[in-house]
Amino acid sequence: MCVDRLISTAVIISRIRRALPIVLGHDPLLPFHRSPVLLQRLYQSPHIPLLLAVSYLLKLLKRCSSCSYPILVKSGVEWIVEATEQLRGVTHSRRAVRMLLNVLAVAAVSAAVLYVLYKWLIPAAVQNSGWLALIWHDVIVERVLNILTGLSRPQRMLKAVQKNATKGDPQSVIAAIDYYCRHKEWAMNVGDDKGPILDSVVSEVNPSTALELGTYCGYSTVRIARLLSPGSKLITVEFNPAYAAVARQIIAHAGLQNKVTLVEGGSGDLIPKIKEQFGITSFDFVFLDHWKDRYLPDIKLLEDCGLLKKGSVLLADNVICPGTPEYLEYVRNSPRYKSQYFQSYLEYTKAEDGLEKSVFLG
Ligand SMILES: C[S@@+](CC[C@H](N)C(=O)[O-])C[C@H]1O[C@@H](n2cnc3c(N)ncnc32)[C@H](O)[C@@H]1O
Repeated sequence: MCVDRLISTAVIISRIRRALPIVLGHDPLLPFHRSPVLLQRLYQSPHIPLLLAVSYLLKLLKRCSSCSYPILVKSGVEWIVEATEQLRGVTHSRRAVRMLLNVLAVAAVSAAVLYVLYKWLIPAAVQNSGWLALIWHDVIVERVLNILTGLSRPQRMLKAVQKNATKGDPQSVIAAIDYYCRHKEWAMNVGDDKGPILDSVVSEVNPSTALELGTYCGYSTVRIARLLSPGSKLITVEFNPAYAAVARQIIAHAGLQNKVTLVEGGSGDLIPKIKEQFGITSFDFVFLDHWKDRYLPDIKLLEDCGLLKKGSVLLADNVICPGTPEYLEYVRNSPRYKSQYFQSYLEYTKAEDGLEKSVFLG
């Protein structure tokens, strides 16, 4: 590369040396010949091709034309003006193309780096920390995807279910959501690590009446409802109307709408009205998976409203991440409960989380 440049420089300089004296009557580059740095600068100058072109043209005109010298000079000057403009255009457009290519190269490399960071490096780095995973997935990625897709995360999850799950097949709905959340986009479902623990507790209790606090998109609702015996009923509560709308469609896609009553509203408002509104005397099973600071007040409300009976089973999600210390302290120390921790992972990550199963002793 360097040798090529030197050769080209030498060739150009020798041409200029031969051309310029013809045009100017002397060699203006003479003083620079001993300085390689100046020659290099001259070589890089955009005026060199212009000077060459002018000198060649004048030489040609001098030879071929029978015109007098002043006319020759006049037409030469006109040509110079024209050639200068053309060459300037060429030089500028070449520079513009080079600049554009540079900008495109920088943009392509930056996009590739950002993609690798977004797709693999950051998700891998936050996998083992529950809080970092929550901030990354729940705060940053969700907002970016909302802007890019014009849809909310629950709507994207619903689309994945409609595309990939078989209607009337709850297992395929669960699989479609788990696949979507493991490979495309994290979401706050109980997930496929803690899900089997939830399944085993529901199967063991075999409840005729079940309550779920916190529906979100209906993932855990489908998990619970698919295991209920005929005639059993699940009430699920969600205070976000947009989530509730998506959950209704996912539950219907799974074919479980007859087993589930989705109530739109806050748990604190609903619990005192359950007996009257639904004719339920008590719950055999309660799944707590709403905002964590509501766990303790809501089970005290369930106790006060007489909705727990001896043997009722409470199962609380996320007792480690984000964590429910007051609730754990209460159920683990109260003589009214027999409590047991099931260790697992925060949904779709490798960070520790777990479920607390607490049997109400009356
Ligand atoms: C972790 S998500 C539930 C996930 C769901 N159980 C699953 O595993 O698929 C918590 C949900 O509870 C809802 N929520 C929080 N506090 C609530 C309350 N006091 N009453 C009703 N819904 C609540 C939130 O809007 C959110 O959708």
